[in-house]
This record gives sequence, structure tokens and C-alpha cells, in this order.
Amino acid sequence: MERTLVIIKPDAVRRKLIGKIIERIENKNLDIVKMKMVKLTKEEAEEFYKEHKGKEFYNSLVEFMTSERIVVMVIEGENCINIIRKLIGKTDPAEAEPGTIRGDFALKLPENVVHASDSKESAEREIKFFFGEE
Ligand code: CMP
Repeated sequence: MERTLVIIKPDAVRRKLIGKIIERIENKNLDIVKMKMVKLTKEEAEEFYKEHKGKEFYNSLVEFMTSERIVVMVIEGENCINIIRKLIGKTDPAEAEPGTIRGDFALKLPENVVHASDSKESAEREIKFFFGEE
């Protein structure tokens, strides 16, 4: 069964949107099979976002992702990578359609409320990063 990683980001935790975001995922009848709350260290955030190293937003992204606790969860279900990405909307909240999580709750980058894996390979890496080998 396909799996994907979703992160409820620091801006959403600060704004007390955890429940609303989980509700959207559950409304879609997707299965949350693992979940925990953590606070990333600078080193962990740098490692998690290493593919963006060198980009002009990298340092502010790391600072943002370490600014507050986050909620990480594993979602399981057929085609869940694509389904979740549709549910959360485009990366840039200014471009995300109303009705999507980012379209409804976020205003500007990098504070885009949620993260979701963009491929099978990144899902595998990201789930391992937060939940280890199984
Ligand atoms: P995410 O889906 O977690 O992937 C990388 C993150 O970097 C993205 O969500 C945003 O939080 C952030 N990001 C991507 N592009 C930009 C940008 N142009 N400016 C600022 N932050 C960005």
C-alpha cells in the first residue's frame, strides 16, 4: 500500500490549525497510520531540506521549520501521494486554489501550513527520516 509523509508546519501549530488540518485529511477518508509531535533541530531541518541547499530561501526555510513544534504523520492508501498533494494545493499559497488546505489557510511562502511528499522516493526517505526503518 502506498504511503506518504505529511507535516503540519510551525505556522499551523502556532495558529492552532492542527485539528482543522487533520479533519481535512480524515474527511477525505485517508488513513493516518502514524503521528507524532516533534521540534526539529537546525541540523535536522538542514538534512530534511538538503535538496534545497543553496537556494535563496533555504536559510529562512530552516529557520521557519525550527521555530515551533511540528506534527508529522504517515498517511496510507491507494494513490495517497497524489491525493494528498491535490488536497493541500500548490506550494505557493498565493497560487493555491480555494478549497485546498494551503488555499484556505495560508497566505505567503514559506509559511504554507503543510508539507507532503512529492514522490514515492521522497515519501520513503521522509518516512524513514522521522520514523526510522521498519
Ligand atoms: P514544502 O512543500 O515543504 O517544500 C519546500 C518548502 O520550501 C516549501 O514547502 C515552502 O515552505 C518553502 N519554499 C519553497 N519555495 C519557496 C520560495 N520561493 N520562497 C520561500 N519559501 C519557499
